[in-house]
Amino acid sequence: MEQLIQTLASAALDACGATEEQLGVSLPSLFEQPEDVAVGDLALPCFRLAKALRKSPAAIASDIAVSVKLPDGVLRAEAVNGYLNFFIDPAFYAGRVDAILQNPDFGARGQGMGKTMVIDYSSPNIAKRFHVGHLGTTVIGNAIKNLHAFCGYRCVGINYLGDWGTQFGKLIVAYKKWSSADRVAERGIEELVDIYVRFSDESEKDPSLNDEARAAFAELERGNEEYLAIWRYFKEISLREYKKTYELLGIEFDSYDGESFFTDKMPAIVEELREKKLLVQDDGAWIVPLDAYGMPPALILKRDGSTLYPTRDIAAAVWRKKTYNFDKCIYVTSAGQSLHFAQWFKVVELMGYDWADQLVHVPYGTMSVGGEKLASRTGNVILLDDLFAEAIAKAEKIMEEKNASLPNRHETAVAVGTGAVIFNALSGSRIKDTNFTWEGALSFDGNTGPYVQYTYARASSVLRKAACPDEGAAAGYVPSADETALVKTLLRFPARVDAALNEYEPSIVSRYVLDVCAAYNVFYHNCPILKSSGAEQAFRLRLTAAARQIIGKSLDLLTIRRTEEI
Ligand code: ARG
Repeated sequence: MEQLIQTLASAALDACGATEEQLGVSLPSLFEQPEDVAVGDLALPCFRLAKALRKSPAAIASDIAVSVKLPDGVLRAEAVNGYLNFFIDPAFYAGRVDAILQNPDFGARGQGMGKTMVIDYSSPNIAKRFHVGHLGTTVIGNAIKNLHAFCGYRCVGINYLGDWGTQFGKLIVAYKKWSSADRVAERGIEELVDIYVRFSDESEKDPSLNDEARAAFAELERGNEEYLAIWRYFKEISLREYKKTYELLGIEFDSYDGESFFTDKMPAIVEELREKKLLVQDDGAWIVPLDAYGMPPALILKRDGSTLYPTRDIAAAVWRKKTYNFDKCIYVTSAGQSLHFAQWFKVVELMGYDWADQLVHVPYGTMSVGGEKLASRTGNVILLDDLFAEAIAKAEKIMEEKNASLPNRHETAVAVGTGAVIFNALSGSRIKDTNFTWEGALSFDGNTGPYVQYTYARASSVLRKAACPDEGAAAGYVPSADETALVKTLLRFPARVDAALNEYEPSIVSRYVLDVCAAYNVFYHNCPILKSSGAEQAFRLRLTAAARQIIGKSLDLLTIRRTEEI
């Protein structure tokens, strides 16, 4: 497709007798693939050429339409309202199926060759349960990482655990008063959450507990071995639980260097800020004023000298740049943290680091449950464990009813159950606020993950019954409208991947793969495959293989498992 666009672009340039420099725009980049096939197969909008050519877009389009020399495979050009629409020979599309099958990485354009990206995502605060509020950062982050890896980036996935801060002083005090290693071993994070809640309640009655907690955290920071051991234990217990979910989803991190990892790297950063004359004392605390940039100040040191969330993020970014030499470093968090990132990105810039513009915050909308704010304290929270277990159980039950003889039933149920939840979480544009509902997350019908997995299994099943024939077997076959429509949809993949990559928007892939499934299912119903023969059958099998390849790759990108049989 790209090649054809290049050829058409130079033909169009010849027709208007201008060079790209004169037009001030790269012509191939203007080409669009109209959603509505009746409009044409490719369109060149002429609006941006009007100034340079001193003609109306409509006149430019009709002038080119008259004089353009059409390359092979292009049937005609038509000018409509400032657009130049090209109609392509279906035989051309038939040939494109080969191009897809020859290239297992069809869709990637090598955008990230030789480049490194670091992505900080999921990053839960330890000693807290893993709940639906973490679903967004986890699955959006992993999809963004997959997209980058697919396009050739070296990727470093970092789980920046929230494992440092004054709350650990409280937890240590609470643990020593009301809990034990055995209780924690038995009840896991739940025990930690319970003693934390108890601490909050009791410290309201007895404020001296807060002093104890502050002292305990200070001890921890000073390296008190007993406290460090307790803290490590909290971390181990928490990670054990989080890792179960990551494993279930097939998500792996390259690093678990959390906030605590940067404690010894902060004094140097504070010193650097001071030397660069960015630090200002404010009521005993140290801040970097940002009013010149329309933002409240970044808080660097508290009155008692302890560091803060922004301080740690700055130290971590400097360390990551040194360690990984990234071309970009992406942070995926809820939009509630947008100001935090804008502030400390600005501080990094003020420190004189020219790579500040390689820091990217990717926010997503906040999630509510039943129309209300998520809050562990009021119990308005859904644990990821429960959510996935429920989804898998539902999938298993449906399979029992519909396909009792299915081999690997449990494994397939895991794939479908997790697929439903993940697809649901990635189906809308990420910045939109969402309201979690069980019906939505566990829906298997309509435009859902299981529907995509089912379509993938359908294509796989066709190919199990008749293998995909070699190239050339379909030579000379002229595809029907339904077949051409499917090929056209498949050919949009590279552009959709590119858009998803540039916009950090996995929903572009999830919406796209639904289009592919819809086009495949229309083709499947209208064009008999196994009952056809000769070049026609060969083409249909090859088309099925190409569709399967792209649906499969889309599922991979979204972290949803492929299902060969459902
Ligand atoms: N632990 C934080 C939270 O749960 C998210 C961390 C995001 N990453 C970062 N570098 N600040 O809200």
